[in-house]
Amino acid sequence: MDPVAEIIDARQAARQHHDPHVDVCFLATVTAQGRPEVRAVSLRDIDAQGFGLLLNTTSPKWQQLTAANGQCSLHMLWSTVRRQYRVYGRLEPMEPERLQQYWQRKSQRAYLLQGMAELTQRYPTREAVPFPETLQGVYLYPTEIDVWHGSPEPDDRLHDRRLFTRTDAGWSFCTLVP
Ligand SMILES: Cc1cc2nc3c(=O)[nH]c(=O)nc-3n(C[C@H](O)[C@H](O)[C@H](O)COP(=O)(O)O)c2cc1C
Repeated sequence: MDPVAEIIDARQAARQHHDPHVDVCFLATVTAQGRPEVRAVSLRDIDAQGFGLLLNTTSPKWQQLTAANGQCSLHMLWSTVRRQYRVYGRLEPMEPERLQQYWQRKSQRAYLLQGMAELTQRYPTREAVPFPETLQGVYLYPTEIDVWHGSPEPDDRLHDRRLFTRTDAGWSFCTLVP
């Protein structure tokens, strides 16, 4: 059983249910002083490489990630399909071509939001919007995933929780109680 494939399917189902958090996840890191910090980040593609994110290399989170050798945790909650995922692993750099594709899409939105007229004058084409040196694409390559399935009955509070661990032979899992 591959928990990454399950997450991809659950995300698709959550999207069909118009889940408001389908494109977001929560990234947890720890400061040098041991203080946990968590923040929302946009969740890009998910595939065998991992969970795609775009982060700024001048940000506090980036410092924390660098100090921790890329180790971090991602949290996803798609309540429309009663799923929670807690993903642990390390960050790996994204291919430059993929990052460029994301940047083109991102800059298109920013372009609209920040005022068409002014930006159109400054950057006559979308491709002309300069690529920020500090934008970094990464994948969280998962080594451990805690999967929570909620019951379809809203009041019974029943759920199923499994901890998947990546091994040389693939994913193994154990059921967690409670
Ligand atoms: C819905 C949403 C999506 C966000 N997406 C990103 C993102 O993709 N990348 C990012 O660096 N920050 C994103 N942010 C901002 C972060 O939550 C955070 O405020 C910022 O990155 C600074 O974090 P830091 O001070 O811990 O480094 C997003 C915030 C929200 C509310």
